[in-house]
Amino acid sequence: MSIIETFCHVIGERDKYTVEHSKNVACLMAGFAEYAELPVEDVTLAYVVGIVHDVGKVSVPDHILNKPGRLTEAEFAIIRQHPEVGADILGEVEGLNKVATIVRHHHERYDGKGYGTGLAGDAIPFFSRMLAVCDSFDAMTTVRCYRLEAFSIAKALEEISRCAGSQFDPVISRCFIEFISSRPDYEHLSAAHA
Ligand SMILES: [Fe+2]
Repeated sequence: MSIIETFCHVIGERDKYTVEHSKNVACLMAGFAEYAELPVEDVTLAYVVGIVHDVGKVSVPDHILNKPGRLTEAEFAIIRQHPEVGADILGEVEGLNKVATIVRHHHERYDGKGYGTGLAGDAIPFFSRMLAVCDSFDAMTTVRCYRLEAFSIAKALEEISRCAGSQFDPVISRCFIEFISSRPDYEHLSAAHA
């Protein structure tokens, strides 16, 4: 856990948004894993991969990371490297091989059109498929520099439903929608897991 906290500080030095986002995603992942009744060690793993999934963003220059508006193709190519950079960093740490693999594939799409190594369907690690949904949900429901208004929770869930089977694993999407819908106190989820 102290290694994980160190990674959290490394991300925080660069980018406050990514720290908040990572904590939110970690809480969503842990809450979702509990809801799905995964074993306790998998709930812990879900939390850990949520915290560190974007650690590779340390390699993205500030002017790209915080750019309001559309990225150029060259800028996007740099952003696309962050899963691999993150996995390579985490892979250096003994005992974090599984975490590194999950991070490497967190931007794959279920239809194979994502970025990473182009895996599709069940070939994408299970926790990477979970991360894809939790990551997008938090990004949609949070205000960013390029978007003044966040989606409502209902609208974000609609979007996840629309992208189930293309961007996201359809079974995980359905289960995630049930999970969030079962938590009218969703806003307090972070506090509950803090
Ligand atoms: Fe990411």
